[in-house]
Order: sequence, then structure tokens, then C-alpha cells
Amino acid sequence: MTAATATTADTYRPALHYAARNTWLNDPNGLIFHDGVYHLYYQNNPLDNVWGNMSWGHATSPDLVTWTEHPVAIVCDEEEDIFSGSIVFDRSNTSGFGTASAPPLVAVYTSAFKTGSAHDGLQAQSLAYSRDGGYTWTKHTANPVLNRGSAEFRDPKIIRYDGGAGSYWVMVAVEATDFQVVLYKSHDLKSWEPLSTFGPANATGGVWECPDLFPLPLDGDPENLRWVLTVNLNPGGPNNGSAGQYFIGDFDGTTFTSATTVTEGLQDPARLGEYQWLDWGRDYYAAVSFTDAPNNRRLMIAWMNNWEYANHIPTAPWRSPMTLAREISLHTIDGQPRLIQTATGDFTALSSAGPSFTLQELELSDCTRVLDGAAGTVQRIDITVTPENAEEFGLILRGNGAHGTRVGLRPSQNTIHVDRRTSGNTNFHEAFPSIDTAPIRPVNGSYQLTIYVDHCSVEIFAQNGQVTITELIFPTPTSTDVAVYAIGGTATINSLDITQYA
Ligand code: FRU
Repeated sequence: MTAATATTADTYRPALHYAARNTWLNDPNGLIFHDGVYHLYYQNNPLDNVWGNMSWGHATSPDLVTWTEHPVAIVCDEEEDIFSGSIVFDRSNTSGFGTASAPPLVAVYTSAFKTGSAHDGLQAQSLAYSRDGGYTWTKHTANPVLNRGSAEFRDPKIIRYDGGAGSYWVMVAVEATDFQVVLYKSHDLKSWEPLSTFGPANATGGVWECPDLFPLPLDGDPENLRWVLTVNLNPGGPNNGSAGQYFIGDFDGTTFTSATTVTEGLQDPARLGEYQWLDWGRDYYAAVSFTDAPNNRRLMIAWMNNWEYANHIPTAPWRSPMTLAREISLHTIDGQPRLIQTATGDFTALSSAGPSFTLQELELSDCTRVLDGAAGTVQRIDITVTPENAEEFGLILRGNGAHGTRVGLRPSQNTIHVDRRTSGNTNFHEAFPSIDTAPIRPVNGSYQLTIYVDHCSVEIFAQNGQVTITELIFPTPTSTDVAVYAIGGTATINSLDITQYA
């Protein structure tokens, strides 16, 4: 099916999330804040709404919520597809692609060389530059700049290292089928020398893709920096298919040393639940962070889909949304450094003045209650619940009679789950209907959830962002109820606030 022949009504176009107008997208690429604007480039098929013809699409936003689509930024040709990568602002014009007074943006992307091209079947790293703030791009004439003779070497994230070992560019990329992150160093973005490798470690149930490496202060203390290495893998996530894991440790300018490795080498299947996950849901992949975000904030966006069924989700003429942007911070939890994630962005343009539905101290005993006045299709829900003796309790979102998406907590099992088996259209792919589970612990005896609901998604930030679950759903537009429930005993909703978005 081509975009031009798509006939399905655009029922699922998100209100809070980016999706291309009428084409396919996957991984976010080249995320950068530049000249007061957030730039989101992405893996894009400019000609269709399934994967292919990989090029970099482009959108910008002032607030991380409202996006404007621009012409395709870097286009594939007969030699190469333009696979994932990143962009840096080359302030000192180290590359020579700009001038001292007008330094360039430089994109480092993976050339996926096509059959019959000069580098038939190889993946190598290439450059393109922009002298107009990211709107038009020119490929470097001496591409590729880093070729290992590998068919699985991809997804370069470039960071500026300024530390004890000096000041230079570092490339963090993968040898995907070796479950290895490979690090290189450069002074001009054109010539690269090897630094070190990391992996295999922890989750290795699928190829490693789209890595990132960044420092974060622990508990807000700038004197106590830790380095975080994120690695997406596909398949092999905690609830099957695509997912992202992270390691916390140190980077000395040459080597990343992990303090959170559970298994060296190939994973022990029994230990999957002990690894650190960026998200426990089915639809959070290829997560990567912005370069140069204001105030040193670490902001990430992921592709909201899963390679198990990505090309089949029932949206048209576009296919695949991005997730909300998240702010990432590092906090000590039960004695261990762990990521905390909160949705970020300015939603004020879309929301009513304040919560339009609110309740307090509602006791639920073995019942389901549809909440009068709470219905909606695009909402933020904030809820705090104390379980008392209920076996399970939670919410039913985008509901309609018996159907809906269940977000359930089971205190005796220390779990939270999303059950999307009756969430709406689920039969477009056999891998889609699912119950997806994450570990969770009560804090002072209760549970706090912030949930963003959109036309085709549910994003859950539990316990103030300690655990996140991101899931696509495809409810009928008339499924708008919000219900709360308790099974096998009593649970008390201490507070529940709903903000409706336009
Ligand atoms: C991840 C990925 C990347 C690759 C891109 C191709 O989803 O497979 O490794 O660069 O997608 O579209």
C-alpha cells in the first residue's frame, strides 16, 4: 500500500505526539536543540508508510509537543540508505564545513550501502553538513569516513567529551550482531581512531542498536557525576520484541566501565528481569537523547512501535508515532543509582486551565466504577492509590462497556501490568494483543501513577517515574470511558486528577 492509496480514516493520529503527515517513520535521529528550536530528524520512508527508502525526515518544535514537518533532510540514493545517526553543532568549525563565524551542524549517519554500490552490503559512518541551521544538508564528498568492513556497524551517536583525558569528539556506535558498543575518537569528525568496546553484557536476546552515552549528576549533585550507557535491542525486551536497556558506570574518555552489569557475555535468560530497562512496555524503541538541550537537561525521545508488528499497525496515511519527550535524571533508590523519567514539554497550548475531573478518598471493594464526567480521548491522569487488601486494582482506559485497556497493580506480586487484549483493534498482528508486566514496589504503602492517554497510546510513569510502560492501543473513537476497579478486596483511591487535552 502506498501513502497515496491509503483509504483508512485518520482515526489514530496523535494529539500529543509527533507522527509524519503521510509517511512511515522509525528511529529518532539527530535530536538537537539549536537556535531556540528542538530538531527531530527521523528514519523516514518519503514514498510510503512501510519501512524502506530510508532517509532522514525532519520536524521542529518550540515546546516538544507541537511539531512542524519540514522537507526530507537527507535523502537515500542509488548507492546508500541513510540509517540512524546523530547531529552535533560544530561550534569551533573543527570539521571545516563552515567558517569560524558561521559554524556548521554536522550529521553523522550510517551509510547502508546497497547491492552494486562501491561498498556493496557494508554499513559505515558518513557525514553531511548544514549551513542553514539544519534545514538543508550536503553530503561530504569523501564519505564514508569510518568503514570497518562490517555489514552491522551502525547508529553513531556523537558526544563532545571534555574531561581529564582532553577535549574531543567521541562516537558511540554498535556492532549490532556482536552485542557490542564500539567507541571512537576524533578531533575533526572526519578521521576516527578506536578507543574501546563494551559488551556483550546483560540483555543480548537480540541485536544491539542505537546506543547513547551521557553523564548525569546523582541525586542532583554536580560533583557526583555518573555515566549512563543506553543500548536498544531487538528483539529480547522484557516483554518481548524491541526495548532499551541501560548501564550506569564511568567513562574516562576512553573506556566505559559498568557498575550495573549482571551478566557478562551472553545473557542468562532467567535474569532478564534484573537488568535495567528504559521502559517495560512494548512500544519504546531506539530511544536517544537530545544534544545541547537547555540547562543541561537530558531529554529523550523514542520510536513508539515494536519491530514485531511495526509495519502492520492500523494507521494511515502515516505509520508510527514518536513517544513524548522525557526528562531523565539519576537518583538513589534502595541504595542503587537508577533513572527517573518524567514526561516533559509544554502542554499548555492543548489543555484546559487545570484538572477538569478530580476526586479524593474513594473506596473500591470488589467493583468496577465508570467515572462520570471523566471520559475523554486525550488525557493526563494522576492517581494515588492505597491497596488495603485488594488482590488487584487499577484503571480501565479508553473503555467502552466491557472493553478497554487495563492498567493493573498486584501488590502481592509487586507488579504493574498493561492488558491490551481488549483495547480495541488488536487483530492486525498476532504479536500485538498482550499483557505486559513490570516490577513495582509501594512507597509508604501506596502507588502513584501519571498516565498520558492519546488516540493510539498509553504512557505510564509509575512511582514518580521509577517505572515506565509505553504501549500502543487502537480503540474505537467512541471508547472514551475511564473506570477504576478493585478485585479480591478493597483499595482506596487517595486522589485522582484528570486533565483533558483538546
Ligand atoms: C533500529 C534500526 C537501526 C537502523 C535503522 C534502519 O530500529 O534498525 O539500527 O539504523 O533502524 O531504519
